This record gives sequence, C-alpha cells and structure tokens, in this order.
Amino acid sequence: MNRICLPRSLAPALTAVLITLLAHCGPVAAAAVPMPRILRSHGRYELEVDGKPYLILGAQVNNSSNYPAMLPEVWPAIRMMHANTVAMPIAWEQIEPTEGHFDFSFLDVFLAQARQHHVHAILLWFGTWKNSSPGYTPSWVKLDNARFPRVVDRQGKRMPSLSPLARSTLDADRTAFVALMRHLKAVDPEHTVIMVQVENETGTYGSVRDYSPRANRLFHGPVPQRLIRALHTRHGTWRQVFGPHAGEFFHAWSIARFVQQVAAAGKAVYPLPLYVNVALRDPIHPGPPITYESGGPTDDALGVWKAAAPSIDLIGPDIYMPDYARYTRVLDLYHRPDNALFVAETASAEPYARYLFAVLGDQGIGFSPFGIDFTGYSNYPLGARTVDAKTLAPFALAYRLIGPMAPVIARLSFEGRVHGVSEPESVHTQTIPLGRWKAVVSYGLPLFGNGTPPGNPVAEGGVLIARLGPASFLVTGVHARVSFELAHPGGRQVQYARVTQGVYEQGVWNFLRVWNGDQTDWGLNFTSIPQVLHVHLATY
Ligand code: DGJ
Repeated sequence: MNRICLPRSLAPALTAVLITLLAHCGPVAAAAVPMPRILRSHGRYELEVDGKPYLILGAQVNNSSNYPAMLPEVWPAIRMMHANTVAMPIAWEQIEPTEGHFDFSFLDVFLAQARQHHVHAILLWFGTWKNSSPGYTPSWVKLDNARFPRVVDRQGKRMPSLSPLARSTLDADRTAFVALMRHLKAVDPEHTVIMVQVENETGTYGSVRDYSPRANRLFHGPVPQRLIRALHTRHGTWRQVFGPHAGEFFHAWSIARFVQQVAAAGKAVYPLPLYVNVALRDPIHPGPPITYESGGPTDDALGVWKAAAPSIDLIGPDIYMPDYARYTRVLDLYHRPDNALFVAETASAEPYARYLFAVLGDQGIGFSPFGIDFTGYSNYPLGARTVDAKTLAPFALAYRLIGPMAPVIARLSFEGRVHGVSEPESVHTQTIPLGRWKAVVSYGLPLFGNGTPPGNPVAEGGVLIARLGPASFLVTGVHARVSFELAHPGGRQVQYARVTQGVYEQGVWNFLRVWNGDQTDWGLNFTSIPQVLHVHLATY
C-alpha cells in the first residue's frame, strides 16, 4: 500500500480538508465510467463505449459454452481472432434453476475473465425463445405446459414455441431478466458488458401464429391503435388491415409486445442498449409459403417490431448466407434510418470475413461471427468445418486492420464519411463514388502491372475508404487494389499528391513511410498484411 508522509505541522490541516471532502463525496470511488449508449443523428448511428466511439469487432461463442469449465477454450479463440467483444449466452435455466432462487456465479466468473482479457462483452438472454423453442428455460417452465402454454397450430397441435400471449410466461421471464440486469448493474460498474440481447431468434417454426382460443379472439379483434398509428394504416381487424400477412404480423406483434415488456423492465433497472437478433427469411425469394420463423423481426415485420418494442434499440440480422447478393441485400434491409446495423451473428467460414467491409460501408456498428471457441463444436455447413487458427485467420486479419483505428472509423462513419465494399463472387471490379472522385476497386490482380481483374480464387477482398477532406482519404483493405479517377474527367487526370502509410494509436495517426514508385504506379494494392494509407489526390 502507498503511504503519504506529511510534515507533522501540516497533518492536522490536511486531515481536516480530507474529512470535509469525504463528508461531501461519500466513499472514495473511481471516476464513473460512462454508460454505453447508441447515439443517433441524421439517420446515422454510433455506439459509444467508455465515452468513446466503438465498433463491435465481435465473436460469439457456441451455445453451450456458458459454463466456467468452458472458458479456457473460449479465450484463446477470442485472442487469436483479435476480437474486442465477446458475446456470451446467459441461460434462464442457469440463473434460476429453482423459481425465485438466482445464481449468477457464472456471470461473475465470466466478467472477471473478460476484464482480464481486456475485452468487452455482450450478454445473450436465452429465455422464452432460443431459435423459437424454450430449450433454455428452467425445467419448472418447460415441463409445465399448463402454466406456460405452447403455441398451438391451426389443427390444435402443440408447437415447440411458448405462446407469447401467456401472462404467466411473461411475468416469469421478466422477473428473471430484471434480476439479471439488477445483478449486472451491481457487479459491472466499469461496463464490461456493453449491450444485452433480449431472447434469441424469436418466432415460431411450423405455425404462422398461435391458434389458441385466446389468440383467435385477439386475432379476430381490432389491430391495436399503436400499430395503426405507427404504420399509418386504416382501422380494422388483423385480416382486414393486413390481408394475407395478418397471421404473421399478429404473431410478430404478440412476440414483440412480450419482448418489449421484458426489455422495458430490464432497462428500468439498468439502461444498457438492448437488441434482438433475427432468423432471417430469404431476402430475395422470401416466399410465400412461410418457411421461416414466423413472428420474428424478419424484414417484412420490421415496422411491426419497431412499433411494438420501442425499448429495443436495434434489430440485428443473423446472416448465414455466403453469397454476395443475399448478404448485401440483408445489410441494406437492416440498415435503416430507424435501425442501427449490427450483424448480431454471421458464420465462421472464410467467405464471411470479407463482409466486415460491406457492413462498415453500410454504417454498421459491429459484426460478430458465431461459434468462436475451441470447445470442438462447429455448426458446419452453416459455419466453418472446424474452428481453428486457419479458419480464424481471415477474421483476425480484418480485426487487426480495423481494431487499432476502430474509434476513428466509428466517428467518421457517424459523420457519413465511410464507404466499404466486399468482393462479389462474379464481378471483379467495383466503383465507389466519392463526389469529385471515384475509387475503382479490383480483385485478383498481382501487385505489379495491369490487366483484367480475374477476381481472387475465393472471394476474400474488401476495401474501406473514409473521406478525410475534399481530396484526402483514409484507404485500407485486404486482397484488393484501389485506384482513383475523376468522376467527370473533363480532360484532366488524377495524380497522387502524397500517399503515406501509417498506424493509428489512441486515435492519433503515426507516419511510417511514403508510398511511391512501384507501390503506387499500379494502384494501391492491399494484401494479407494490415496496411492503412492516407491518400492525398490532385489533378494535372
Ligand atoms: C442462430 C442462433 O441464434 C445460434 O444460437 C445458433 O443456434 C446458430 N443459429 C446455429 O449454430
């Protein structure tokens, strides 16, 4: 312990000052760490953590890795991936095995270890819904179908999902979630946990909605005023207002209202940002028929969810679609003026790593591949066949590149200055409009010389460009070439006034060298080495 030695004559006076200060301040406390929050301006978003702009370079562990014995298999993978945020399930069955008796011992262990590993955390509340089913509810919930009724289909058959219309289920889930948030508030003054996901992939497979007598009564009644107002639609029954979508939207409303009440109660005790994730429907060929999880926040139901669940800060897609067309379509669908884009889950397979660039280009606040630990499980064919160093390498490259400058990128993004693209499978050149300039991105060319871009053998390229000034850009990427042209040449040509390579440390740009000659004659070539450039353009 440090001792302060004072001259005898000064000691009484200083002691008096100290006592007065303590009387006014109460116990000496570390300076309060600001709450994580999501800022919104001009339809753009910024996640702020520790009072600074933040990008979630995330990693979500496997479903059953939420026990202390598994954590030694978690941290090496998180470290190897260079993730700054780990997403960890907290299961209802784990925290309330007996009704009214809570056990947060895993959470406490996890938080202590997350801090030792210098990462932030996202908690995933596995409650009434986990991929539609109540698998993670305690046995006193899932075995009591009378008190906690299931959805019944049109034929009266019980579905795996619990009904969102049962007061008893809502009360029990809300009580547990509030206990979790209250405990978190008490044990996490430094805000290691930056967001909480409420439930997991809500909805019902196999039935469009609940057909219980209570559900039928409500379904044949009027659409609630709140939804009519939000969607600027006419009054009437669900069928009259929503036609063929009535069953799905009724179920979405019922689930979203349930989630809203859980979220609002949790936020009232501890106002962290809260979000929900989505089991997507196909963004290009969604049906009918409905083959997806009905009632979740699928793209068609976003308006219903937004109206029903204002305490949910964002709706994040779980993207397990490797092809460029569908992946980027999902990004466009969930990047809305009323929704911050956060890819809550994505697959661990190599082709997915490049999408971080498209996510950032769509003003995303984060990205979180799923199944990142060394417990030996892999969700192949959704994700990689095995999760090992080779699998994690492309994600690690992207995170090593973006991580050191994440606050800078997050702030530039909030100002609307960030552009990002990922490599498509069948198109090997892309153009990014930049006002007076345009950037031409090409894939698969060698570092030296020109030619027709063939694309990378496996699409793996990505580029990020941020506007720093009228003719200045931050340019970076992987496995791609960037060249600049004038949007409207008018007889003039572009030249590099200066290209510098550097690194960001604590938000400050540190110069390493000037790129010139071979390094610029054939465009700016990015490989599997993390390199960041400041590019100043001119014309002649
Ligand atoms: C999406 C879910 O949200 C995850 O918890 C997990 O079940 C994956 N699907 C599949 O591995």
